[in-house]
Amino acid sequence: MAPTHQAAPIVDSTAVFKENIFKGKVLFCTGGGSGICRAMTETVMRHGADAAIVGRKLDRITQAAKELSEATGQTCIATQADVRDPKLLQEAVAKTIAKFGKIDFVICGAAGNFLAPISGLSENAFRTVIEIDTIGTYNTIKATIPYVRKTQGSYIHVSATLHYRATPYQAHVSAAKAGVDALSAVLAVEEGPFGVRSNVIAPGAIGDTEGASRLSAQSAEHRTRVVNSTPLGRIGNLKDVANATVFLFSDAAAFITSQVIPVDGGSEHLRGLPLPYPTAVLDPEGVKSLIKPRL
Ligand code: COA
Repeated sequence: MAPTHQAAPIVDSTAVFKENIFKGKVLFCTGGGSGICRAMTETVMRHGADAAIVGRKLDRITQAAKELSEATGQTCIATQADVRDPKLLQEAVAKTIAKFGKIDFVICGAAGNFLAPISGLSENAFRTVIEIDTIGTYNTIKATIPYVRKTQGSYIHVSATLHYRATPYQAHVSAAKAGVDALSAVLAVEEGPFGVRSNVIAPGAIGDTEGASRLSAQSAEHRTRVVNSTPLGRIGNLKDVANATVFLFSDAAAFITSQVIPVDGGSEHLRGLPLPYPTAVLDPEGVKSLIKPRL
């Protein structure tokens, strides 16, 4: 059957997963004040969990926590911290424990990004992104692991797909996210015997985020190029990442750990052959001649 090139449907999480699968669970999420991590937090809360979100800007996370609580009927608290500061993170964890008594799920999502060529990237700029993304992830793991062991909980690290191959102007982020992927894998292997799981979600082009609007011009031409390089025929959506989050934290993923799950519509594997695919390769006679045995 010839491909239709129709966009894949966007799946509503509540339609797919049982509503209360996370009842009584507690999520600790860095970067939860906005963007992808906020959407991940909201979806986990919609399935019954309470949450603590961590961010640098107190007014932003306070407002986000209020809105998340109102939207989900669960409790979300704002814990101000810069993930680069281990002491502040430990205080955020202590505040979470004081409020909820435990931590089941951790999302390591705080990240920094901007477009810059290596030639225009100062040492401080490079170090800043490594410190937020990679060392921030390490700090978050260190601060939470004693509690996550107690609940035999689960980590999700928010990474990217851009470092699988070279992406221009993203040297700092590529190096940082490669480190995040490695940390998650080692965490999974070391903590598996304690019943703790660790996985990575690697979002591709997700349209409705601050990062996407900042990192790309968002011109119609750029959008078309992204869609045409995505086998599922559309730009990603916050719900796509949120659904992967619910799956990975749920018991359905109980035997899945140390994995990287790209949420990118298959685009990572489609380089150099944009949609629509050339139809000549589908010609039945042509295919037959290709597989005809040599006598
Ligand atoms: N191009 C080149 N260098 C840049 C840059 C850009 N677009 N943006 C920041 N830098 C450099 C700064 O010049 C500075 O280096 P310098 O001291 O040599 O001049 C270094 O990066 C640190 O930047 P600064 O803004 O002082 O650090 P910060 O800790 O306050 O914030 C970021 C770091 C990455 C969070 C900040 O650049 C930022 O706000 N980015 C956009 C928001 C964001 O990334 N959100 C996450 C969505 S994924």
